[in-house]
Amino acid sequence: MTVYLNGQFVPLAEAKISVLDRGFVYGDGVYELVPVYSNKPFRLDAHLRRLQASLGSIRLANPYSAEQWRERILKLVELQDFPDQSVYIQVTRGTPGAADPPRDHGFPAGAAPTVFMFAQPLLPSSAEQKAAGVCAITAPDNRWLRCDIKAISLLANILLRQQAVDVGCAETVMLRDGFLTEGAASNIFVVKDGVLRVPPPSNLMLTGITYDVVLELAAAHGIPSEVRAIPEAEVRGADELWMTSSTKEIMAIVKLDGAPVGAGVPGPLAQRMDALYQTFKREVMRA
Ligand code: PDD
Repeated sequence: MTVYLNGQFVPLAEAKISVLDRGFVYGDGVYELVPVYSNKPFRLDAHLRRLQASLGSIRLANPYSAEQWRERILKLVELQDFPDQSVYIQVTRGTPGAADPPRDHGFPAGAAPTVFMFAQPLLPSSAEQKAAGVCAITAPDNRWLRCDIKAISLLANILLRQQAVDVGCAETVMLRDGFLTEGAASNIFVVKDGVLRVPPPSNLMLTGITYDVVLELAAAHGIPSEVRAIPEAEVRGADELWMTSSTKEIMAIVKLDGAPVGAGVPGPLAQRMDALYQTFKREVMRA
């Protein structure tokens, strides 16, 4: 497997960084995950804009221009022998310089950002998985107040997701102060009476690129949507519940905390949105 590290494409085994890297010692960095279909990155501009926003929020200068990112990502994609990929991009604050203390919370003056990228096969959900849907649990959102930053320090998200895995479920739906925020690694849509409902972008969640695409597709195809705060009762009383992300696309949640969501099977709107999403992807890939 060929990966990208600091300007070079190297075999995974040769990609080496210092153990003092701020990403390793502090989780001091940000990331992106870009889906690639038939060797074409999907919504790359939006991912690069979100990367820029994350870097700006942690006060780390973007090491590359959008064009430089694009060139490097396309080259990495080309070097893989599978056409559908998820490209992971990570930028950390780097390794302290010789004049910096090896470990100090304040930013090291002599560090340059570490840039690491690799690709892995992106496996779409099978027809059977889509037809079955997944189960989810709820949990209080105990993360910090900057969930809009796509930070590599994901300990809270990992522990929350594992709570779902422990009981054989796919996702943990988070509630903060009685309102829906998002999933441990996805956005959550509620469907009621044919209307999509999602929380508005805020510091309490990551605004997914998939979230944006779903809302755009809804608007383009006359599916009404409401972007507003969603109280817990609306999550529990949903006709349909979806998780959305670059890797899971649109996946119906059919059971929440052991109770059926709506009819307990993927609903008609989930199936319609998935079909719209697949068509949209194919059009984008042809363009
Ligand atoms: N995660 N919210 C959180 C907390 C996420 O981690 C993700 C995606 C999303 C959805 O974002 P998008 O639609 O842009 O993928 C929302 C990725 C897939 C990950 O961490 O692997």
